[in-house]
Amino acid sequence: MSANNIETFYDDWAIRRFTVMAVVWGVVGMLVGVIVAAQLAFPELNLGLPWTSFGRLRPLHTNAVIFAFGGSALFATSYYVVQRTSQVSLAFPTLARLTFWGYQAVIVLAAITLPLGYTSGKEYAELEWPIDLLLTVVWVMYALVFFGTVANRKIKHIYVANWFYGAFIIVVAILHLVNSAAVPSEWFRSYSAYSGAQDAMIQWWYGHNAVGFFLTAAFLGMMYYFVPKQAQRPVYSYRLSIVHFWGLIFTYMWAGPHHLHYTALPDWTQSLGMVLSLILLAPSWGGMINGMMTMSGAWHKLRDDPVLRFMIVSLSFYGMSTFEGPMMAIKTVNALSHYTDWTVGHVHSGALGWVGFVSMGSLYYLTPRLWGMKQMYSVKAIEWHFWLATIGVVLYISAMWISGVTAGLMWRAINEDGTLTYTFVESVKAMHPFYVIRMVGGLMYVSGMVIMLWNVIKTVQSGQAAEAKIPAVTAHA
Ligand code: HEM
Ligand code: HEM
Repeated sequence: MSANNIETFYDDWAIRRFTVMAVVWGVVGMLVGVIVAAQLAFPELNLGLPWTSFGRLRPLHTNAVIFAFGGSALFATSYYVVQRTSQVSLAFPTLARLTFWGYQAVIVLAAITLPLGYTSGKEYAELEWPIDLLLTVVWVMYALVFFGTVANRKIKHIYVANWFYGAFIIVVAILHLVNSAAVPSEWFRSYSAYSGAQDAMIQWWYGHNAVGFFLTAAFLGMMYYFVPKQAQRPVYSYRLSIVHFWGLIFTYMWAGPHHLHYTALPDWTQSLGMVLSLILLAPSWGGMINGMMTMSGAWHKLRDDPVLRFMIVSLSFYGMSTFEGPMMAIKTVNALSHYTDWTVGHVHSGALGWVGFVSMGSLYYLTPRLWGMKQMYSVKAIEWHFWLATIGVVLYISAMWISGVTAGLMWRAINEDGTLTYTFVESVKAMHPFYVIRMVGGLMYVSGMVIMLWNVIKTVQSGQAAEAKIPAVTAHA
């Protein structure tokens, strides 16, 4: 049975819940981001306790924003898009509901175990083996629901957004199984199946493709459906979207070694990673331009449509971070940027600017439609959210660029007699003001998210109230 009484052909039970949880986890994960940002500026905020220390809260932040916020938004939008573009209801509706409960259970287990210090120590794959196994089960169910729906489709053609979502589901399954392979030693403790340089190589093959397929390909699926919908224009070039897809899928796979420049990894693998990262600029920008050009003839809508503005700003940040990334992959540039806040700035121009904005825009599109409303409860609140988020992200990334380049240059400055010009602590002092600015930017960004949560709750309540007045009609599962 559908959760509301409005007659619907599609199965939106899990979509409604994933939508609300995406916003809830967005607030939680970004709040933890602000806390870790504050800890870097004011170390006393570690409180002298192991559970609240930076080392434990940082992975809590990354897991919460990427997998809880981003993941829930991806489940919601992929289930929505695959049904509408295939013109059928979800395959295996019970499994779709189980993916909701299973995925939320993984998130809750992560939120308990990470502060307790249980971690495999692999970045973005910290969860210990019992949680990894649960995630594997959830992912298999997800694949069955998604590809089952594609298989049942009434439309011969498979719309390009589904290609991106499909690639994300398959590749994340492969990455998870390979990188998380471990020998358990006890409950919540294990040893990686790999060691030394191989372990590092596999970890960053995983890490980079987590960026490429989780944080990029999947959100491009969102972009290819929701930007044309909100702009009420067809995708600028369908042919370009297919070139974008295959170019991206092929190239991302090889770029991982740019995370391991100047390490024990064989030199040729580093050079290969660098060259393929440079090539990656082309399909990335092809996709960005395709999204932007979809706006042709609809630019005037930006004046009074804040939802569309979220989407267009997200594309600008997609373009910016996929220009910056290939530059940072050049070995000589990486010699300066690696270990500095420049990397953190790059991460958040992609994460806050691209992933955050495209998710928010798409969730603003989805929410009123899921609860039978014409628009969000407050359009003014979306405006406020937009400006808080935009100023927040600009403060965050510009602070990190200045801090990163300053520290990088200070570390390599050498006196005539060959001694270091600056001590390490002098570079930390130079970074401090920018850590405070980043914290303020983060606070603005998360404030926008809190406004969004209020707006979503109000819209859901209005939808439910309106629905209560309508006599119940046949509800479809
Ligand atoms: C209010 C918003 C946010 C704030 C204040 C914030 C703050 C931070 C801070 C302080 C760090 C640690 C940096 C360091 O170790 O030097 C960090 C790391 C990270 N954050 Fe955020 N964050 C926010 C939102 C997000 C979002 C939405 C995402 C992803 C969708 C994200 C993804 C990451 C990642 C991947 C890292 C690890 C970066 C690396 O290892 O280089 N963050 N964040
Ligand atoms: C053409 C596309 C891109 C390329 C070639 C690229 C390249 C790079 C390079 C060279 C680094 C620094 C590695 C290091 O010195 O340790 C990096 C770090 C990172 N990038 Fe990108 N980037 C791209 C796009 C993106 C996007 C769109 C996002 C987010 C949505 C993103 C997220 C990250 C993250 C999370 C890290 C930090 C990983 C870590 O050390 O924990 N990248 N990227």
